[in-house]
Amino acid sequence: MKFFIDTADVSEIKDLSSSGFLDGVTTNPSLIKKSGRNINEVIAEICDIVPGPVSAEVAATNYNDMIAEAQVLKKIAKNVTIKVPLTWDGLKACRTLRDEDVLVNVTLCFSASQALLAAKSGATFISPFVGRLDDIGLDGMDLISDICTIYSNYPNLNTEVLVASIRSPKHVIEAAKMGADIVTLPPNVLKQLISHPLTDNGLKAFLEDWKMTGQSIT
Ligand code: E4P
Repeated sequence: MKFFIDTADVSEIKDLSSSGFLDGVTTNPSLIKKSGRNINEVIAEICDIVPGPVSAEVAATNYNDMIAEAQVLKKIAKNVTIKVPLTWDGLKACRTLRDEDVLVNVTLCFSASQALLAAKSGATFISPFVGRLDDIGLDGMDLISDICTIYSNYPNLNTEVLVASIRSPKHVIEAAKMGADIVTLPPNVLKQLISHPLTDNGLKAFLEDWKMTGQSIT
């Protein structure tokens, strides 16, 4: 399973990339706003830090303008992935960009039928938003299960399932059990993945006992 980080905060990305866990980065207009940075500059910096796919989202809603924005974004670096919304224009732009060999992430997916259309449009990644489905009282992970089943029924569909809008480590483990290809993690959830109170308590007890032996390994 690949781990992407869902942020446009360069210092956070630098910090986490030293772990060697980061396979890619996703951003969206809200994350760019939160960073307070210019999109072209911040995407260029992120692409320098992380060699994997870095998603930069178009802000246009019609096909021609999406393609015009994609032309600008894709020039930033080889690993820029163009993120388009799951609309008819977005899917049309996806097909055009994929025909030019540009990586495309189709975002704002909330149903299996949308995921099927994105795959048929040649999307590199489909981003189903699990947390936002949970927020309205549905089960976001049911959607991941459906998409994984559908895609695996048709091996000629090469779209990777990129689980987005993740709120907790539980989403990550469930996605891994279902065989999703990628999770995009907010930095706080990535940090939570390692936490376990029994690890902390166990280490504390080992260190206290070790001190009492009076030994040193080096
Ligand atoms: C994915 O690419 C999106 O940027 C993101 O996961 C949205 O998550 P949110 O629902 O926490 O905003």
